[in-house]
Amino acid sequence: MQSRYENAMQEKINLLRDKKCVRILALESSCDETAVAIVENGRKILADVVYSQVDLHARFGGVVPEVASRKHMEVIDALIDETFAKAGLALGAVDAVAVTCGPGLVGALLVAVSCAKALAFAWQVPLLGVNHIEGHICANYLAHENLEPPFVALVVSGGHTHILHVVSRGKYILLGQTVDDAAGEAFDKVARVLGLSYPGGPHVETAAKAGNPKAFDFPRAKMKDNPLNFSFSGLKTCVVNVVHNMKQAEKDIPTNDIAASFQTAVIDVLVQNTLSAAQQVGAKTVVLGGGVACNMALKEAMLQEGKRSGITVLVPPISLCGDNAAMIGCAAYDHFLQGEFSDLTLNAIPDMKINYV
Ligand code: KG4
Ligand code: ZN
Repeated sequence: MQSRYENAMQEKINLLRDKKCVRILALESSCDETAVAIVENGRKILADVVYSQVDLHARFGGVVPEVASRKHMEVIDALIDETFAKAGLALGAVDAVAVTCGPGLVGALLVAVSCAKALAFAWQVPLLGVNHIEGHICANYLAHENLEPPFVALVVSGGHTHILHVVSRGKYILLGQTVDDAAGEAFDKVARVLGLSYPGGPHVETAAKAGNPKAFDFPRAKMKDNPLNFSFSGLKTCVVNVVHNMKQAEKDIPTNDIAASFQTAVIDVLVQNTLSAAQQVGAKTVVLGGGVACNMALKEAMLQEGKRSGITVLVPPISLCGDNAAMIGCAAYDHFLQGEFSDLTLNAIPDMKINYV
């Protein structure tokens, strides 16, 4: 049986279909960033606020889920107020509320999901649950206004390494993914063993600039079942063993050379698999997304190899590569246009999949 809210939303959704300007409030709390944005017609960012908890987790060397959830709860209300103020809108002056409902840390996800449900109910506007990985792909629509599917997307972050065929707006086919660690997770673990701070990706990148990428021949895993899949745990273990053996032998650790050789090994497989995927499905465009897409060496290698294969490579600006809510507002608009709304039973789905056609 439909609730009063759902009945009221059916009518509202019919009215919204003809509206020329649709403003969506988007919330994101899947990991260690609390983010709020207001996006107009899925393309124009009216306000975009990100509160990073990086400093809070740095002393633990990684995200502590319970600490993350508590911090999200502490800051989310003030961030929503700030976002409406920045957009020059009265509190609640939006047509829908969107929220990341997965994948991510369950306790962290629940903060924005509960908040979004409460706001949608209080303001009597429709609710839209969004997949975080889809958000990272859609960051590219915000950055490249003429981008339209079909294309291939590589989402590389601390939690995900996915290659997807974006067949049309909101329709995705998963072509490959990591079978163990995500690429960003491998960067963070290698940084840790090298004594670099958290999050490790940017520090490994800086160290790599001063190192020799050929100093160590680290493994590039080839996956038999699906050659477009990734595995980074063997590479990570190999780096850990090299460092451990050098320490045992009381040798100086060549941090920059290890960082450069590790980074090159990761980039080699990311570039190779992504471009093979594009060739396999006949895509002429590849887009990147996620925190690891901030890595300049990855961007340069992807652009250079893409050019060689006649494939255009697009990367969002750094502010849209990491976790943010503007990308969620953008992804939500596609679901809005397709009439795909959520009801108040929406829940956090920590292992939410993305493979819908
Ligand atoms: O997308 P994101 O902000 O959060 C997740 O959804 O995971 O990505 C964070 C990840 C971390 O693992 C971080 O070390 C990595 O992205 N990262 C980088 C760089 N900047 C961030 N990895 C390599 N090079 C970078 N410059
Ligand atoms: Zn992310």
